[in-house]
Amino acid sequence: MKTAFKSILTEELLKIIHNEFALEWYGCHGILHWLRVRRNGLALCEKMNGNSKIAELFSVIHDCKRMDNGEDILHGKRASSFIGNTSGMIDSILSPNEIQILKYACEYHTTEDKSDNPDIQICWDADRLDLGRVGKKIDKIYINTSWAKDELFVEKLKSRPINNGLPSFFTNYIEL
Ligand SMILES: [Fe+2]
Ligand SMILES: [Fe+2]
Repeated sequence: MKTAFKSILTEELLKIIHNEFALEWYGCHGILHWLRVRRNGLALCEKMNGNSKIAELFSVIHDCKRMDNGEDILHGKRASSFIGNTSGMIDSILSPNEIQILKYACEYHTTEDKSDNPDIQICWDADRLDLGRVGKKIDKIYINTSWAKDELFVEKLKSRPINNGLPSFFTNYIEL
């Protein structure tokens, strides 16, 4: 029997991200984008038996250290450093190996196209599937997984709500 999905996101972590995020909370790289990346990542995890803990954490961390909404090529590197500076919060959720995967996924999410690691592939595709929000067409050359190349799957994904399985404390930080 399929067990109900349990989010690993904590209010402690979201609070820090919310306090430190330098851009508009509802802007193109803000919370609503992160929740779509989360939805996309979790859907890919379902299909690929991926690591949903890594996908969820990637969604709220990968763009949290952006300094502007332009290229800001160092924002992935800053997000990766943020993971190392969260005073044990992430260490209590992920194993050391999972932390390395998450850090890599964050650090290189805009500077590399492809990975051999399926959990990194899921993170990067989950982010790229949301490029439509800024009017960009998704070029399949930059997509890693066969699921994210499947137009029917992607079309259905877009109609899924972004608050599925979201912990209740999120209502303190967003209005959906
Ligand atoms: Fe990014
Ligand atoms: Fe992003």
